[in-house]
Amino acid sequence: MPTAAPDPATGAAAIDIDDRSPEIGVVLGSGLGAFADRLENARSTPFAAIPGMPSASVVGHAGEFLIGSLGERRVAVLRGRVHTYEGHSAATVAYPIRVLAALGCTTLVVTNAAGGINPSFKVGDLMAIVDHLNLPGLSGNNPLVGAPGHRFVDMVNAYDPALVELAEGVARELGFELRRGVYAMVSGPSFETRAELRFLRAVGVDAVGMSTAPEVIVARQLGMRVLGISCITNQANPDVPTPVNHEDVLATGQAVRERFGNLLAKVIPRL
Ligand code: HPA
Repeated sequence: MPTAAPDPATGAAAIDIDDRSPEIGVVLGSGLGAFADRLENARSTPFAAIPGMPSASVVGHAGEFLIGSLGERRVAVLRGRVHTYEGHSAATVAYPIRVLAALGCTTLVVTNAAGGINPSFKVGDLMAIVDHLNLPGLSGNNPLVGAPGHRFVDMVNAYDPALVELAEGVARELGFELRRGVYAMVSGPSFETRAELRFLRAVGVDAVGMSTAPEVIVARQLGMRVLGISCITNQANPDVPTPVNHEDVLATGQAVRERFGNLLAKVIPRL
């Protein structure tokens, strides 16, 4: 049986916040944590100080909740996330999204590092997620199993098409092309075999990673608008087998940090 989920209001109450609630929540993926440095007047609360918050154990995921401003917008940033491959249930992994909603966030920007399945993708490309394939969820590890609230959540257009267009327009203004694609979540933590990569390509996947789907499902359950951005950190091409490792994933995150940060910093005030 799943354990009772902690009350997100208790988690939210433990977060250092001034008089203005955040409206936008941002989850930063592997190697992408530096974006948090762009927040003005940020207040930080370590994950460990928030009741119910699972602790992040992966290199590249520091684990703090930051509340600050980007222009006129109040933003809550999760620097670091937890993954199901650390042994947490999908419901636990998505608990921080419930805390964001309890704080007042109505929009979620979720980011991740991903392998590029689409052969036209290059390392360092950024991709707006237009849809996802939740592979662990299809076989039972869905964050709404045993969770509070409405269960039969509609996932058509879970990634808000208007926000995809907004992000594409901003990328154009910044002088680069934002790719579009379908993100597949796999449980990991081992990377994919060539047969698995062929399978993912055959079913229409453009990028593969080990996160995001549980968070987006809970965000949709709570009525949040969602924008998802993947950073392509490696090619995941069955015909050009290139070994991938976690250090490379983090290193690429740092190389595209500037472009990624510029995109988010310009998109968020327009959300
Ligand atoms: N596979 C799965 N997850 C990933 C990858 C990958 O190639 N790159 C970054 N996260």
